Amino acid sequence: MPVHQPAPPSSLARSGGAASPTIHAKTDSTVTRVINFSAGPAALPLPVLQRVREELLDWNSTGASVMEISHRSKKFIDLAEMSEADLRDLLSIPKEYAVLFLQGGAQTQFSMVPLNLLQQNAKADYIDSGYWSQLAIREAERYGRINIAASSKDEDYMTVPPQNCWQLDPEASYVHYTPNETITGVEFHWVPETKNVPLVADMSSTILSRPVDVAKFGLIYAGAQKNVGPSGITVVIVHRELFGQTAPSAPRLFSYEQQASAGSMMNTVPTFNWYVVSLVLQWLKQQGGVDGIAVINQRKAHKLYSCIDCSAGFYRNRVAVDCRSWMNVTFDLNDPRLEEMFIEQTEREGMIGLRGHRVAGGVRASLYNAVSEEGVDALVAFMQDFETRYG
Ligand SMILES: Cc1ncc(COP(=O)(O)O)c(C=O)c1O
Repeated sequence: MPVHQPAPPSSLARSGGAASPTIHAKTDSTVTRVINFSAGPAALPLPVLQRVREELLDWNSTGASVMEISHRSKKFIDLAEMSEADLRDLLSIPKEYAVLFLQGGAQTQFSMVPLNLLQQNAKADYIDSGYWSQLAIREAERYGRINIAASSKDEDYMTVPPQNCWQLDPEASYVHYTPNETITGVEFHWVPETKNVPLVADMSSTILSRPVDVAKFGLIYAGAQKNVGPSGITVVIVHRELFGQTAPSAPRLFSYEQQASAGSMMNTVPTFNWYVVSLVLQWLKQQGGVDGIAVINQRKAHKLYSCIDCSAGFYRNRVAVDCRSWMNVTFDLNDPRLEEMFIEQTEREGMIGLRGHRVAGGVRASLYNAVSEEGVDALVAFMQDFETRYG
């Protein structure tokens, strides 16, 4: 039986100045929703979806959908400015940083970062912590000399390389790392120290899950489809002092500096996606911002890891305890023949997205911001019951 999640009372009220409208989503007790543990595209907050449905035919009294109006119209520009202000507010982004909403997903940033930060014949340091950092390395190698300053390959990527073994080059243009490896569920619970070399982070699967000191980074990027909104939009937060080095051969649209001066609107923007992002940011503010959501996220992860650890080997998480991800909890079953049955039964119970990534196998529960604690409780209850029946 799919799990029935009644809609919460109207929410999404904007916390903001006097000009900020209070917005409400109608309640709807008839919709049957699954509990979505997908790694991305991932669950979106229900009040956001309700609000989207309500406004689909007439957005902001335009008599048209947000998909049908000009991105250069005053109403859309207001939305764009409001979402930037909300993101700045949520992450306390210092004014020296530009905030961009770009297209092309996180993997486009694998090229844009070196094209903008790696001057000709220059070099960069990369930390190899698994699948996504490796892809970033492979792409960057097309543009310059890439040094793998540390790797957790010898530990089968079940940990992160400790800072004291990093071989950093003080002459590097930047240091790139992946704070959360989405596939293995391995996370840095500390921010690396790179002295005067700018730190670049692929925060696709951790951004907005907790507070972060943006001032420690030269550049942060993230595909939206986990904690920020739907796929098709990418957030980039970049210190303006890194402008002015874009490779002359780089596509015009790939220049951070030009995108910043055009308000991320060098070409037609994904208006619908941006609109959903703006609603997600408002929703997050209602949850107490990143401080509020961090407490819930840590508790959700703790509940699931405790269930795994208490199963005496029936479920196994292989990640080093101090590197366990809050966002992506991976585990397998001691009898692999049970895995398929486990996935099938969760689906029958209305829980989706639990199959591990195709390169890793096993089970993965992604616990992004929009996954409720009740959803995690339901998964834990199912896992305990499954263990009683098959353990
Ligand atoms: C950490 C990380 N980086 C990069 C990507 C790739 O993102 P995209 O599909 O937006 O290019 C993902 C996708 O899941 C990811 O988790």
